[in-house]
Amino acid sequence: MARYEELAGKRILVTGAASGIGLATAARFAAEGSRVAILDVNRPALEKALTENPAFEGGLCADVSDPESVCEAFAELDGLFGGIDVLVANAGISVRSDFVDITPEQWDRVLGINLRGIFLCAKEAARRMLAQKSGVILMTASSNGTEGHRWYADYNASKAGVILLAKTMALELAPFVRVNAVCPGYVLTPMQKAEYTPEQLERVNEGIPMKRHAEPEEIGALYAFLASSDAAYITGADIRIDGGETAGLYS
Ligand SMILES: NC(=O)c1ccc[n+]([C@@H]2O[C@H](COP(=O)([O-])OP(=O)(O)OC[C@H]3O[C@@H](n4cnc5c(N)ncnc54)[C@H](O)[C@@H]3O)[C@@H](O)[C@H]2O)c1
Repeated sequence: MARYEELAGKRILVTGAASGIGLATAARFAAEGSRVAILDVNRPALEKALTENPAFEGGLCADVSDPESVCEAFAELDGLFGGIDVLVANAGISVRSDFVDITPEQWDRVLGINLRGIFLCAKEAARRMLAQKSGVILMTASSNGTEGHRWYADYNASKAGVILLAKTMALELAPFVRVNAVCPGYVLTPMQKAEYTPEQLERVNEGIPMKRHAEPEEIGALYAFLASSDAAYITGADIRIDGGETAGLYS
């Protein structure tokens, strides 16, 4: 479904795009006629996504938490597209743990991918976008970055960091580059299915005003809007898309 004419031909990179929200977002940009490259650390999943989505022009196998790997991926992207117009920095992981059981290694891994990974990719993109005096950087944070949620202290801290990273970058990169953080609530993706039993998913749905999880495509639709000229005045924002989950304090 194409809605934004000006996205046609735009050069888009989506990270964590072999699965879930990233894959649906990449597919949405491809449907808009954008030139899409996907980045993921999981090579078999990356190759499967490329085979199943022939409209994607490139696949970059890289670890977003590793500066060298990110640097090489952006060099490859330069070879492919000669630059970048929109980055969706989305790769992330979560591990359910009691706070007292979080090891320093787990903390570093979660923060390394979710926060440092976004910093590294955003920095590569920002340098290119400032040089061309245009661009959009979008980041997947979470409603876990705005309120406390049990058993995800490391994840929540990483997502709160993403929101402030987006806001600070928005100040420094305006007026040429817009930067926003998207905060999904519960989205029905492989990440979610791996961590919740069907019974737990049902219980979660009961507590959400919209009575369901979001579909990954609904997050992709928000990303397409935020990259479009309809969102030309939106920068430095953290935008929730959570079916009303966080609308009430004691709902
Ligand atoms: N699913 C939800 O309910 C939900 C809610 C809010 C926010 N989010 C966030 O959305 C993003 C995508 O989550 P999802 O649910 O689609 O998960 P997912 O597991 O389906 O997809 C995540 C992708 O990121 C890739 N990835 C992991 N580590 C990487 C690394 N080091 N380098 C490059 N790629 C890496 C994985 O291989 C995978 O393909 C994450 O940042 C997540 O925190 C998800």
